[in-house]
Amino acid sequence: MDFSGLGPTLAVLALTVLLLVCSWKSKRRDSRLPPGPPALPLLGNALQIDKRAPDQSLMKLSKKYGSVFTVWLGTRPAVVLCGFETVKEALVDRADDFGARGTVPSIRKVTKGYGIASSNGHRSLQLRNFAITTLRNFRNGTKTLEDFIQQEAKCLVEVFRGTKELPFDPTFHLTCATANIMCAVVFGNRFNYTDSKLLNLLDMITENMKVISSPWGQLYDMLPNILDYLPGPHNRLFENAARIKNFLREMIQSHKDMRTKERPQDFTASFLSKMEEEKGNPTSEFNDENLLLSTFNIFLAGTDTTSSTMRWGLLLFMKFPDVQKKIQREIDEVIGSERTPAFDDREKMPYTNAAIHEVQRYSNIIPLNLPHTVTRDTEFRGFMIPKGMIVIPLLASVLYDSNYWESPETFSPDRFLDKKGRFKENEAFMPFSAGSRMCIGETVAQMQLFLFLTALLQNFTLRSLAEPHAIDISPLSSGFSTLHRPYQLYCVPRKSA
Ligand code: HEM
Repeated sequence: MDFSGLGPTLAVLALTVLLLVCSWKSKRRDSRLPPGPPALPLLGNALQIDKRAPDQSLMKLSKKYGSVFTVWLGTRPAVVLCGFETVKEALVDRADDFGARGTVPSIRKVTKGYGIASSNGHRSLQLRNFAITTLRNFRNGTKTLEDFIQQEAKCLVEVFRGTKELPFDPTFHLTCATANIMCAVVFGNRFNYTDSKLLNLLDMITENMKVISSPWGQLYDMLPNILDYLPGPHNRLFENAARIKNFLREMIQSHKDMRTKERPQDFTASFLSKMEEEKGNPTSEFNDENLLLSTFNIFLAGTDTTSSTMRWGLLLFMKFPDVQKKIQREIDEVIGSERTPAFDDREKMPYTNAAIHEVQRYSNIIPLNLPHTVTRDTEFRGFMIPKGMIVIPLLASVLYDSNYWESPETFSPDRFLDKKGRFKENEAFMPFSAGSRMCIGETVAQMQLFLFLTALLQNFTLRSLAEPHAIDISPLSSGFSTLHRPYQLYCVPRKSA
């Protein structure tokens, strides 16, 4: 009898049996974990998660497995929390259990646990409190943060005016503006939009956002031990991170070279003073590594997020010209055409405030949140989540929770207004997350969104080459960040419009 043809069949059979045994074993071992789809060894649930829209795949899985379920990211399990009530219960009501940062391999490789965003325990408490206080009290000489943003808004308006009603992609200009605000916060200065230092920095930040949101970024976090040895775009992530760190090291060194009295009152200068103050304290977290990684965190967390939200805003204002007109009407009534918008104006501009909130809700730019973990073995809604396990409090499922938002798929600023046209909060508005790890830059971001967007609409009407009905506002992809489709706009100056 000839058995030679049976070789491949037997191999497939053996592999199938092995996969079934492994998946059964992993299920049994973790029987108190929340339920979830069956996982394959090595791959986990990779085949059930769309790499171009993981948030959508997870929301679909929650329909079958409930608001707390387990997915396997490669060989690592993660608990997904879905919907406003579940996310709020974990992050706010149970902040002591769920308020720790979970690490993913790509972030661990870059930060090694230093800095605000990747640390935990004593370190994170010290660094977060310090950063929040420094941002709140930021002042450089006589200039407040609002002064810096207003000055940057004027530059942005001039750059937009310089496009002379020709179509352009606003990404570069908007990212220059938000990066300059982060420069002001961290180093007390700004760069010209043509400065090669700024341009290099932006190239690296933008490329990293793209890679980390791409299938490659997600694949790296699932299989780091394999991908570390393979060529591919994921390697750019680490090359860029190293170059960004070099840039930051240089900037920090130039602060150190200044005499204390000459230093601007920014994050770096305050951190250096704190290092001096705590020199003899062996448990101090104010050291060079934490300074470098904290400035790294602020740049990365603060630049593309705010720029991307504004890009979504401009796109949505072109898609819905009525919304744009209503904002402009409010600007004309409250600010007029001459005065620079101020953050205090926001209170008197409920429609504009509502429209910006709706841009943030709709664009859902950090759909998966940053990863969390539990600080101890934690009983939650009848399940057991082991200490250290990754927890994903799915912000997409909060911002699109149909129990809290009517027709969540529709862009509608009116949902943030009451019957009398006054601004109305919604507790499920959580683009900055919630609880003890919530974004530290919320106020800085909201100030920028309001001042930049109103300055632009005060001066221009934004138009698209395509008719509004033909503008596609569905996301291009969502991974770490939800990316809009590339677009061009042209600006018609309002005074001559
Ligand atoms: C529209 C703009 C922004 C959005 C939507 C946003 C959103 C977020 C989210 C969802 C998190 C994770 C919170 C969590 O883990 O529960 C976060 C963390 C963080 N954000 Fe923002 N952010 C924005 C702007 C900024 C700005 C301007 C800064 C800097 C001034 C900043 C600095 C940070 C830092 C340092 C963290 C880490 C906090 C920690 O780990 O304790 N963000 N942000």
